Formats: sequence, structure tokens, C-alpha cells
Amino acid sequence: MHDERSKPRKLYVKSFGCQMNVYDSQRMADTLAREGFTETENPAEADLVILNTCHIREKAAEKVYSELGRLRKAKQAAGSDTMIAVAGCVAQAEGAEIMHRAPVVDLVVGPQSYHRLPELLRAAEGGKRVVDTDLPVEDKFDHLPAPTRAATAKRGPAAFVTVQEGCDKFCTFCVVPYTRGAELSRPVEKILAEAERLVDQGVREITLIGQNVNAFHGQGPDGAAWNLAELLEHVARIAGLDRLRYTTSHPRDMDDALIAAHRDLPELMPYLHLPVQSGSDRILAAMNRKHGREDYFAIIEKMRAARPDIALSSDFIVGFPGESDADFEATMDLVRRVGFASAYSFKYSPRPGTPAAEAATQVPEEVKAERLAILQKALEESKSAFDQACRGTTFDILLEKPGRLEGQLIGRSPYLQSVVVNNPPARIGDLLTVTITEVGPNSLTGEPVGAGGSERSLPRAEPVAAMEV
Ligand code: SAH
Ligand code: SF4
Ligand code: F3S
Repeated sequence: MHDERSKPRKLYVKSFGCQMNVYDSQRMADTLAREGFTETENPAEADLVILNTCHIREKAAEKVYSELGRLRKAKQAAGSDTMIAVAGCVAQAEGAEIMHRAPVVDLVVGPQSYHRLPELLRAAEGGKRVVDTDLPVEDKFDHLPAPTRAATAKRGPAAFVTVQEGCDKFCTFCVVPYTRGAELSRPVEKILAEAERLVDQGVREITLIGQNVNAFHGQGPDGAAWNLAELLEHVARIAGLDRLRYTTSHPRDMDDALIAAHRDLPELMPYLHLPVQSGSDRILAAMNRKHGREDYFAIIEKMRAARPDIALSSDFIVGFPGESDADFEATMDLVRRVGFASAYSFKYSPRPGTPAAEAATQVPEEVKAERLAILQKALEESKSAFDQACRGTTFDILLEKPGRLEGQLIGRSPYLQSVVVNNPPARIGDLLTVTITEVGPNSLTGEPVGAGGSERSLPRAEPVAAMEV
């Protein structure tokens, strides 16, 4: 039936895990838009459900099976023929197991095969259960279509662009080098073209993303490999782009050029997510992090010299095999010394196939839980101190979405805090200068200082009116 493809169909995509999955989900939706799929937020009315999964910790990976259980029941109850696809890092790591454990799944597709979705889907529609977890030689980015103006408008004024994927670092706890494959940087011209298109479509803030984004070494227009600092400088020049960020960085690749970019590029937001994982040199070595605690302090000192208003964020793992009380205390000491504006912290989760999972020195669950509670309390206090210090300060926020109450809009501060503004003289997609008047646990409240934001928030040729969600 050759008109099958153009029949209007509905797609529901659910993303778990990191920002790269969010970006990939959008690319999958863009690819399937060409096949006649429009997105829905209601899985019950979808013709195709995609779960874009995360394998980083056991809990994250298990979520996919409970979600599949729910979908199976809903599908049986409704007697529907919804197709179900599993994408992302669990698909890559456990493709065959998913097929075995969850007969409801029609299609498993790994992160490097998203450009093949239309053909895989046709095979699955033909009644075949399909698994594609190859790491193909062709570059999927060359085959993934760009979003339409309407799709970009719906996603809001802050967008992600993948510049680097995969990881060669092989931290001993981590599955990413196995699920995402070897480190690969996209060519500079393709990244710039994608960023320019997004800005032309109304995007005001771009976050360059990669599992190891500051290891970026994409081919420049001159044929030479460019580093992240060079790339940032060129993205920052795009007319109409107000804000630039990048994530996630590895301390080992935090070179002087990148630190200088924070001094030189006003578009680059004064916020750095730099995972350290542990404050103990012994544990950092066992994790194969390739840096020590003093290296971390040295980077932060240089960063603060380059950009005094920089705010820092990090990731921590407690209860890595062999972690003693003294090791944990070293982490607590690092937390107190740095003063993080925000942070994520996790109990170590042994992942199949990673070296640390084999260690005989696993830390008991209750010790992990106790350490996590202590660490999280300290990180919460540190975050709260940072937020409190913002009271009375004035900065630009980028308005991203409506608030809960009538007339409210929510924007993001330079430090990624959510800022609620009542009846702002501006709309979604605008930068607005506000003074922080209240500080709550999950958001700040801002009072507009002057309509229209800073001098960089000039009226645009193409207003982003369609961005209301
Ligand atoms: N590429 C990033 C991190 C990717 S994973 C980096 O190099 O820092 C995001 C975070 O999940 C990690 O920073 C780490 O803190 C946590 N994480 C990764 N593997 C984990 C595991 N096995 N158990 C617990 N936390 C883990
Ligand atoms: Fe995982 Fe380490 Fe690579 Fe980050 S740097 S993705 S933690 S292996
Ligand atoms: Fe998870 Fe894969 Fe991202 S394991 S954190 S979705 S790279």
C-alpha cells in the first residue's frame, strides 16, 4: 500500500536520561515527521510509541521494563495495534534481552541507527520484530532531517546541538563508552549550519552537547581539527544568538583556550557543569578519571580568574568500590571548598561489563545510602547559599514557558535557575532584565527592571510569536 506512509499518524516519544537523549528524541521526531507522524503527548492515542532509554544506573535501566509493562496492559485493554519501539542506551546495551523480556516490543534501535528508523519501521510493520544496534560506518547526522520552523517554535527558545558523541575515557564505573561508542566529533560547518538554522527559526540560546563535549576536535572549514574554544567563538558570532552553553565537560579536557573563552565571549553563560565524581585521589585513580583533586581545584581557580561570576555544578558518586570513610570525607571537603551552585549525586550502581562492577570491595548498600544523605544535605546547603546570594541581584533571564498562575512566565537565569515573573512586559523567547526579589527551594521570583531586556535583546526581524506553548 504505497500511500500508507503519508497517512497521518501519531507519535509519542518519552525520553529518559541525559540531554543527548532529549536531542535524539527530537531528531527521531523530525525524521518521522517526514513519514507523516505528528507528535502527541498522550501515549493512548499514539500509533507509534518510542521509549528513548538510559542505561547509566540500574534504576534508570529498569524503568524501561516497568514502562513497557504499563504499555502492554494499556495496549491489551484498548485492543490497539500501537507499535512500540525502544531506542537509546538500554536498546544498545540489551537489545536482544529486551526482545526476550518484552514481547510487546516491535522494534529496538540503537543511538547510531536513528536515521534508519523509517526503513526499520516498515520492516516492523511487515510483522518482523527488528533489532538494529549496529554501529554503522555512515554518519547518521548526514541523514537526519532538520526540524521544521513549527517544530523548533514548539520546543522553545533554548535548544541543544550535538557536537560530539561517544566517549574514549572508560571511567571504570561507566557504560557510556559501550552504549554510545567511540568518541566522534561532528564537522564544524555542519554544526554551524544547524545552529544558524535554529537561530533563524527563533532560538535564542544554544547548548552544545556531547558526552565529553570539551574533547571536541571536529574538522574545521580549513581542514584542521578545531577545539571547543574555537567552535564556541564561531557559534557565538551567529547574529541573533544571545546565549551559549556547553555540557558535559571532563576536567581532563578543560584546556586554557576553553577557560579563556569564558573570559572573552559575553554570550557564553557564566556556568560550568564539571563532574568531579569524588574528592579522593585514591578513588579518582580507581575510577580511571585521569585527574586528581588538586587538578580540579586548579581548574576552578583559573576559571574564577577568567570569569569571576562563574557558578559551578558537578556530579558525584558515593560508595564506589573501596571507598573508605576517609575517601568520603575527602569528597565532603571538596564540596565545602568549591561551593557548588548545584549538583547531582548518586549511589554507585554496578553496571554489567564495566570493570568496577567486578571489584570485590563493593560498599554495602546502607553505607552508600548514609553517605548519599550526608552529601546531598551539604550540596543542598551549598545550592541554597548560592540562590540566597542572588537575592537583590539583577540579570537577564530567557523567558521559556508559562508559569502555573495566570500572567506568569518562567525564564532561566544565566545560572540555569528557574525564575518566575508576574505579568512581564515581554513574551516567551525574550530576554528580560529582572531583579531577584524572592528565593524559594525550586525557583526564584524576579521583578522586571526595564522592558525588553538588555541591549542584546533587540527586536528581531522574525518575532517568535508562535512560541507560546
Ligand atoms: N560524560 C559525563 C557523565 C555522563 S553520566 C562525564 O564524564 O562526567 C552522568 C553521571 O552519572 C556521571 O557524571 C556520574 O556521576 C553518574 N554515573 C555514571 N555511571 C554511574 C554508575 N555506574 N553509578 C552511579 N552513578 C553513575
Ligand atoms: Fe562515562 Fe567517564 Fe566517559 Fe563521562 S568521561 S561518559 S563518566 S566514561
Ligand atoms: Fe543515559 Fe545513555 Fe545518556 S546511558 S546518561 S542516555 S548517554
